[in-house]
Amino acid sequence: MNKPRIWITRKLSDATLERAQKDYDVVINLEDQPGTKEEIISASFEFDAIVPCHSEVFSSDVVSKFGPRLKIIANHSVGVDHCDLAALNEKNILVTNTPDVLSDATAEIAMLLMLGAARHAVLGDEIVRSGNWKNWSPSFMVGKQLTGARIGIIGMGRVGQAFAKKARGFDMDIHYFNRTKLNDSVSLGASYHDNIESLLKVSDFLSLHCPATPETKLLIDAKRLNIMPFGAILVNTARGSLIDEEALIDALTSGRISGVGLDCYQDEPGGNPKFSNFKNIFMLPHIGSATVKTRDAMGFRALDNLDSYFAGKTPEDLL
Ligand code: DGY
Repeated sequence: MNKPRIWITRKLSDATLERAQKDYDVVINLEDQPGTKEEIISASFEFDAIVPCHSEVFSSDVVSKFGPRLKIIANHSVGVDHCDLAALNEKNILVTNTPDVLSDATAEIAMLLMLGAARHAVLGDEIVRSGNWKNWSPSFMVGKQLTGARIGIIGMGRVGQAFAKKARGFDMDIHYFNRTKLNDSVSLGASYHDNIESLLKVSDFLSLHCPATPETKLLIDAKRLNIMPFGAILVNTARGSLIDEEALIDALTSGRISGVGLDCYQDEPGGNPKFSNFKNIFMLPHIGSATVKTRDAMGFRALDNLDSYFAGKTPEDLL
């Protein structure tokens, strides 16, 4: 029997590519550039499955031109905001993602961003690296301490919970907003807020862990930034669309927000050039899940979903 034909749109981990090549008839985009609309449409005529990243966009205009061969999109990502699920569902194309396996890596990068924003990592690095570190004083580069501070978490799913666990290790006072209240055993006794405004009022630090959906677009806007404690710190490792970036610049300028840690932006790749004027924004280029361990786990999870589908079973991460 012929092996199913699979298009892998980006250079996934070596272990993932090796396994995929063993089990499937695979075409890998080793040039590693995001798949264009035209490439994605033509792949739907040539392949039984696509393994994309969040960099390939399956919008309704693209999906409407799909051919009959494509049966499943096994995403190498937990986020699926790049997929128009309704349009894909109408075409009877299954969609899976890779939950769980990247929660710890993403929570780790959120901790890094929070610490970096709180302790002036960008400015400190620049001063030493540039040879401009000429003096030391007890009033020099004084930051905010995590210990005992209130951390607000929006979205207490898998990543939010992993982050809460790490924040607990830093002795932070944990508060969260989630659509539903979690059992205390899962939330580790964190304080539940049934609305975002109530959470923001107590968030000396705020970390976003909710998916990008039409409902969460510009979730953090000028009004909400203004009810946070003066000098609060904001961290985003979820999606750039959650934050009104102009409002954030205003909040940084007024001092309402004193530090920001970002791994994602409204425009990616590239980010927001205006952010570069602020030394109190610690920025990374969407690398929350970029560890060897997690990349392998994400690739294997995507392949597990394909294996189930082609064995006639329901993929574990079917959306
Ligand atoms: C995800 O899995 O959604 C990460 O953002 C990487 O794509």
